[in-house]
Amino acid sequence: MQDNLQLNIPLMDKMHDDFLDLLSTIKSCNDSEFLQHFEEIINHTKEHFASEESIMTEQNFYGRQEHLDEHINLLNEMIYFYEKARKFPTFGKPYINDYAYEKFKRHIINIDSQFAMFLKEQNISS
Ligand SMILES: [Fe+2]
Ligand SMILES: [Fe+2]
Repeated sequence: MQDNLQLNIPLMDKMHDDFLDLLSTIKSCNDSEFLQHFEEIINHTKEHFASEESIMTEQNFYGRQEHLDEHINLLNEMIYFYEKARKFPTFGKPYINDYAYEKFKRHIINIDSQFAMFLKEQNISS
């Protein structure tokens, strides 16, 4: 993972690393495996977001609602492209190949980093 994506909160970094692994797998998979890997990425993202959200609730994070809204948007967008890809696989490819990484990176840099800083201020390193 690039240095600027490292938040030094182990649970978050682990989720982000695993996401990048899944993304590189789906980028290089056969067409016949594409939907199955797409589903895996969605399930992992649900787990990833839920794990952050449960710490936010636990720690009463001031930016929780904004972060939650952003998670919902990202996940809905991913599901939208998955549904498209189920009908016409070619619709899912540009999202995975050109778009998903940028969206993910922007979320870590702009949103997750704010939460990570909050956790560090509270001396929590989940
Ligand atoms: Fe995250
Ligand atoms: Fe997040």
